[in-house]
Amino acid sequence: MRAIVVEKGRAAEHRELDEPVAGPGDVVVDVTWSGVNYKDGLALRGDPGVARVDPLVPGIDLVGVVASSGSSRFAPGDEVLVNGAGHGETKAGGFAERVVVDPGSAVLVPPGIDGRRAAAIGTAGFTAMLSVLRLERDVGTDDGDVVVTGAAGGVGSVAIAVLSRLGYSVSASSGRLAEQGDYLRSLGASALVDRDELSGAGKPMQRARWAGGVDSVGSHTLATVLAQTRWGGTVTACGLAQGADLPTTVLPFILRGVTLAGVNSVEAPLDLRQRAWDRLARDLDLDLLDSMTGEVALADVVGAGEAILAGRTRGRTVVRVGGSRI
Ligand SMILES: NC(=O)c1ccc[n+]([C@@H]2O[C@H](COP(=O)([O-])OP(=O)(O)OC[C@H]3O[C@@H](n4cnc5c(N)ncnc54)[C@H](OP(=O)(O)O)[C@@H]3O)[C@@H](O)[C@H]2O)c1
Repeated sequence: MRAIVVEKGRAAEHRELDEPVAGPGDVVVDVTWSGVNYKDGLALRGDPGVARVDPLVPGIDLVGVVASSGSSRFAPGDEVLVNGAGHGETKAGGFAERVVVDPGSAVLVPPGIDGRRAAAIGTAGFTAMLSVLRLERDVGTDDGDVVVTGAAGGVGSVAIAVLSRLGYSVSASSGRLAEQGDYLRSLGASALVDRDELSGAGKPMQRARWAGGVDSVGSHTLATVLAQTRWGGTVTACGLAQGADLPTTVLPFILRGVTLAGVNSVEAPLDLRQRAWDRLARDLDLDLLDSMTGEVALADVVGAGEAILAGRTRGRTVVRVGGSRI
């Protein structure tokens, strides 16, 4: 089978590999589509924090058709998807024509979403929905503006599309407003905020601007969003595009009752995965999803990984892997 392989001391390459061997209870999937996430960019350049086995087939997302199943939940021919769950980090991922998956992390592709769109949503969109599920527990659509940082990225783009469709007033923060301002408005953003307004060191408490936020950037940006969140607001944190540090104080928490809610997609339990995908099928406008999706061939995925790390990618990039029959 064809696959992308990352091996220590070598550049990622497109190779022919033996087919993987399934254990009892495993599900074997013929991969049709994968996607490019920030983490895949890191794996493709051999970052040891992500590429935790050597050699590794990267690709934290996979969508495909069940070839054989040791699980009563799936039958041959079913179209399934997996996000994270160690694929592309500690075990072979979606940049290969055939992958062995644990049925405990696989979900049927929801009716109404085809395989390419499921890959377009991918981990980034799934994480955006996990963020929305957490945010909406505390923040209502009438509570005030919600800010989305890293807005033109994968998580940011899907978060804007979903939140605006749900009726939230969304402010989109981006470092690329000149090129991407119209795009962000087309996704549903009602206001645009220059990344520079949020990304520098600032006071720990500032004028309250946001009822809540979805952050995929971390560092000073997340600290500023917390400092600008009004009483009782909630900010979700899933990413570190600016940095893994969080230079804040306890003041937003103890003086305004702000909640910082962590979001992790990789280890999400099956019931949460299913709930998030059910909501994606209901609350994400598929025309908007198509408008934010680019496509590369499996052989060209290394360049797409470099582009996402360089901040040049807009929205989502799907990877055409196998026959892509569906
Ligand atoms: N916790 C989880 O389970 C989970 C799941 C998915 C993703 N993540 C993390 O979430 C982040 C976003 O992932 P993604 O796939 O959406 O990546 P992405 O498509 O590259 O989006 C990241 C966005 O962050 C902004 N950005 C980049 N560098 C920045 C900097 N130095 N300062 C401020 N903003 C910067 C850019 O948005 P603008 O150009 O609009 O400014 C960029 O488009 C990554 O850190 C990823 O690892 C975590």
